[in-house]
Amino acid sequence: MTTDDLTFPEDFLWGGATAANQIEGAYDEGGKGLSTADFARYRPDVADGQDNFTFEVTGADLDAAEAGTLPGVFPKRWGIDFYHRFREDIALFAELGFTALRLSISWPRIYPTGLESEPNEAGLAFYDEVFDELLAHGIQPVVTLSHYEMPIELTKRYNGWLSRECIEPYVRFARTVFTRYRDKVRHWLTFNEMNMNLTSVYTGAGVLMDRTDRSVREVAYQATHHQFLASALAVRAGREILPPEARIGTMINRIEVYPASPRPADVLQAMREDQLNVFYTDVQVRGAYPGYARRYFADQGLTIEFAEGDAEILAAGTVDFVGISYYLSHLAKDRPGADESIGMLDGSALKNPFLDATQWGWVVDPVGLRITLNRLWDRYQVPVFVVENGLGAEDQLEADDRVHDQYRIDYLRDHLIQLREAIADGVSVLGYTSWGPIDLISCGTSQMSKRYGFIYVDQDNYGRGSLRRIRKDSFAWYRDVIASRGATLGTAR
Ligand code: BG6
Repeated sequence: MTTDDLTFPEDFLWGGATAANQIEGAYDEGGKGLSTADFARYRPDVADGQDNFTFEVTGADLDAAEAGTLPGVFPKRWGIDFYHRFREDIALFAELGFTALRLSISWPRIYPTGLESEPNEAGLAFYDEVFDELLAHGIQPVVTLSHYEMPIELTKRYNGWLSRECIEPYVRFARTVFTRYRDKVRHWLTFNEMNMNLTSVYTGAGVLMDRTDRSVREVAYQATHHQFLASALAVRAGREILPPEARIGTMINRIEVYPASPRPADVLQAMREDQLNVFYTDVQVRGAYPGYARRYFADQGLTIEFAEGDAEILAAGTVDFVGISYYLSHLAKDRPGADESIGMLDGSALKNPFLDATQWGWVVDPVGLRITLNRLWDRYQVPVFVVENGLGAEDQLEADDRVHDQYRIDYLRDHLIQLREAIADGVSVLGYTSWGPIDLISCGTSQMSKRYGFIYVDQDNYGRGSLRRIRKDSFAWYRDVIASRGATLGTAR
């Protein structure tokens, strides 16, 4: 591709990305067990526009839930009812021209408690139907094994990924779905955004902080270590079970880090913060812990337990590609307390004077996507897949059933233009799946009103509404972008 060529490569995958717990609903149907996400509460006290990705669920909450006294509403239990409406939704994705849909398999749909020796056939049959429907429309499923959920039983019994005990059930789950869907799924991701364990260790790793004496940072890294092992073992199982053309990747929430000034101490701080963001991909692409991580653990007084043989497991289970979600960039400055926010989506982050933010305060930085893609490619020389990017905004449904979301079109166009620039720079990019092509339940806030879709879903934060699907203005725009392989994006504004 040359810089004058406005089209993307022919085999570039175009689509959208979702997660089981944010779309499926039917939380207690088809033999599904309860998942950690089923206990994520919508909190009306958190105003629209205020982010609360850091929410945690405690052991006390789970006890209250068992006693039937846990207050609140739990929107991830109903999602957008994809479980019953997937045919209609996939038909809309096909109308958009998707060639890929990223979705996750709900682990407790397959192993309700995680501990069964045999999988739940009804759960397996559901994904067979979904994948068949996608393939019939020429859409490849891109599958995440664990996207911010796990059987709640593993949390209750072991305190989630804080324990090594979760590794075996996860690998059993991975083997089961690899075997079942080996001919239907080509791209797999082992975990969603392990780096977000630092931001919410319940969301990412199913850990209850009131059931451990260890510090939250130590817990996050310990849980991550167990997920690294589980991922590496799943990759090894995948190599055995899947056909040679299958690809297994990892993914992180990639946060491009800039120094706040050219002061060397700020540049060094930016480098360190960046290292702790790529720590996850370093381990999973290169197969070993980097020196800077060991130093960081020592400096911070964090004790991460390793067992004999762990290093070999990591070395033998490296991934084929790097997936990223990309939403924002971050400024780093050498200042008191800077290390405490390292690697996190930091609410107290410094404001970049050159960039605007979304309604939820997420900094919008399309050029950062080009920089990030170049950096990842330089670092690893394995293909990158942009498996999430998008704009969460409140949309207005007009009386004539229209949603005029020009702001979303602008956001996505600017990012896709930069992605195309990165390809012209020589980066190997497998595809682009925008986050939430159909409105879904927010991960961080459990709101419905934080919408990302090309397709509006008539439902409010309390689950009220007709669930009708309505095409927004961005629908026709994205359809034309895909049909023209990017030519209609034009050039940078
Ligand atoms: C990503 C997650 O970090 O961000 C998704 O993988 C999530 O699950 C997305 O939905 C957007 O975040 P939110 O909080 O706006 O839903």
